[in-house]
Amino acid sequence: MNATYKTQVAIVGGGPAGLLLGHLLRAEGIDCVIVERQTRAHVESRIRAGVLEAGTTDLLRRIGIDARLNAEGMIENGLNLGTPDGLIRIDIKALTGNHATVYGQTEVTRDLIDAAPARGLEIVFEAHDVALHDVDSAQPSVTYTKDGADHRIEADFIAGCDGSHGPSRRAIPAHAVREYARDYPFGWLGILADVPPCHDELIYATGNDGFALASMRSPTRSRYYIQVPLTERLEDWPADRLWDVLDARFAGLASRPIARGPALEMSIAPLRSYVFEAMHYGRLFLAGDAAHIVPPTGAKGLNLAAADVAYLADAMIAHYRRGDQAGLDGYQTKALARVWKTERFSWYLTELLHLFPDQGDFKRRMQIAELDYIAGSEAMQRAIAEQFVGLPL
Ligand code: APR
Ligand code: PHB
Repeated sequence: MNATYKTQVAIVGGGPAGLLLGHLLRAEGIDCVIVERQTRAHVESRIRAGVLEAGTTDLLRRIGIDARLNAEGMIENGLNLGTPDGLIRIDIKALTGNHATVYGQTEVTRDLIDAAPARGLEIVFEAHDVALHDVDSAQPSVTYTKDGADHRIEADFIAGCDGSHGPSRRAIPAHAVREYARDYPFGWLGILADVPPCHDELIYATGNDGFALASMRSPTRSRYYIQVPLTERLEDWPADRLWDVLDARFAGLASRPIARGPALEMSIAPLRSYVFEAMHYGRLFLAGDAAHIVPPTGAKGLNLAAADVAYLADAMIAHYRRGDQAGLDGYQTKALARVWKTERFSWYLTELLHLFPDQGDFKRRMQIAELDYIAGSEAMQRAIAEQFVGLPL
């Protein structure tokens, strides 16, 4: 059986970018549908980062999906860099008048999915063989199969929010694409555990044994990471081995000892900087990881997706409300300007805080000198603070 229906915006991908875009459009009465490959449970089970920029929390408040965020989000007024000489606290509140919020991406995704039915936002989970068609025509469409039936969605626009492995990028011809990539020679080994955090704020530590991050999800749930060689295998890392490393990396930096407990989740993820410089082609617009990847060092993945979606939603709303095409025509330029500034910030922190294989003594001295300069420079601390809390949308 073939089913064909029309909508205004077909959104491919039901992660943070697709979900947030769907809600922003629905809040303005624009018809849209999200086509998601995975099950709802799979999408909601993903463990990702957990720091929201002020602009991202503003978007959640704009659509009124902020009740749990307000109740459970943890205000981050400061950011700490751990160095061999001690902590450098960057007073985000004093330097920017703003703050970041610790609230897991998992929770954001869950809130957006829970709110979808009441807002008339349709999410098709377990859609298979998703394909984009005629994206450079006035009648683009998305096809997929579900429960053995073929489906076709005809739309005015397609939003490619399908992450770094989705089909949207492939719908754009190579002649329209420029790609930039930097793969880092290490990964992050992460652990999530129901133990109280070792510090009240995040600590990004660079020790003579490498990078470590102390983060959190709540007063009783912690998230930690250490850099590891790309050759490391998860099966070689029982939780106790990681707790031992974290003890050493945060000794003398954190205000409390590292509390230990069983891992709720452990994973190793590579680090990459990547930009796919074709965020608009015909009636197709890319947003989020479909267009770019940042290393997690700046906690920017979700926030950059949210910024893309804020720009794209406002452009689509202007098109439907006032017939104004300028936002859509200017989307790629506006989004990429922020993408590159965010890529630079994430790259900068990654280069500053990690030990690169065979980096030599000189680069380490440059890292230490940079940290020493940051420690004494309000201007540098303000620059880091304003980028961490998020540049204005
Ligand atoms: N068809 C439909 N959906 C697809 C397909 C496909 N062929 N391929 C991928 N998807 C879905 C994925 O299952 C996922 O739910 O697209 C969604 C993309 O979501 P994300 O990868 O989370 O990307 P995005 O929404 O841009 O959010 C970026 O999420 O993964 C983190 O680190 C990333 O923090 C960043 C944030
Ligand atoms: C997290 O809490 O998972 C987290 C925090 C900051 C980062 C990356 C991840 O830079």
